[in-house]
Amino acid sequence: MTDNPHDSGSLEAGRRAGTPFGGLRVAITGGTSGLGLALVRELLDRGAHVAFVARGRDAVNRVSAEHADVHGIVGDVSRKQDIYPMAVQILGALGGLDVLINNASDLGPVPLALLADTDCEDFERALATNVLGPFRLTKALLGSLASSAREGSRAVVLNVSSDAAIHAYPGWGAYGASKAALHHVSRVWNEELIAEGISVLSLDPGDMDTALHLAAVPEADRSLLKRPETAARELADAIGAVLTQRVANEAVG
Ligand SMILES: NC(=O)c1ccc[n+]([C@@H]2O[C@H](COP(=O)([O-])OP(=O)(O)OC[C@H]3O[C@@H](n4cnc5c(N)ncnc54)[C@H](OP(=O)(O)O)[C@@H]3O)[C@@H](O)[C@H]2O)c1
Repeated sequence: MTDNPHDSGSLEAGRRAGTPFGGLRVAITGGTSGLGLALVRELLDRGAHVAFVARGRDAVNRVSAEHADVHGIVGDVSRKQDIYPMAVQILGALGGLDVLINNASDLGPVPLALLADTDCEDFERALATNVLGPFRLTKALLGSLASSAREGSRAVVLNVSSDAAIHAYPGWGAYGASKAALHHVSRVWNEELIAEGISVLSLDPGDMDTALHLAAVPEADRSLLKRPETAARELADAIGAVLTQRVANEAVG
């Protein structure tokens, strides 16, 4: 074993080196663009083993080719029939799971539309991608997360939220409603799972310079938006804080 967590597959090495991510097994949805891609890179840099999912095969292959020790999976979180194959591939690639990040997202109608002008199909797609997909994938991976927590590793689910989950912005109805539902589901999951050693977080990364933001607000001044790399560092720190707390509790317990 080595003290460099980037060279090591072991949780113990990661703990000794002061990072909770060394050897951790992490799955990220929407890993080919924006925040998801930045999270893939940030967590690889911190010594985690990473699998990611996205729909576009070319982008999945490109990101996989750019990084050693990353596992790209082609799948659509909004499609019920994709969830179990996705979960099986994640577990096959990583051999278990400690952290799940539900990041992939759908804006609903593009250009954004008032609710009165929103097609039901666009609303359904936002709900399927932003609420049911994360719910199904979490359920499919729950046994592995619980097993990781039982083994004394830690388990965290991070659901990526938005300020649109809280504030009623005109034009953001389908997206905002889906993110509000995801936020509430996360809070209930957390209450139900915390005793099992699984923490469920729901965090807003802030307004970022990404393809999603460009599609939603094409007129925005991009120089004023947060870099997705900055948000990825902040979210990784938030996950790390939960993991470190657990490690500290284990050390005294
Ligand atoms: N950008 C912002 O200002 C902002 C603000 C607050 C919250 N957020 C949240 O931050 C997260 C990341 O957003 P982003 O701006 O980084 O988005 P993005 O640049 O558009 O990237 C979205 C990623 O998700 C994948 N994806 C989309 N639909 C998918 C599906 N059904 N199944 C699997 N993968 C899917 C995309 O690849 P494919 O298209 O190939 O599938 C891509 O990799 C989202 O949850 C978003 O709601 C963003």
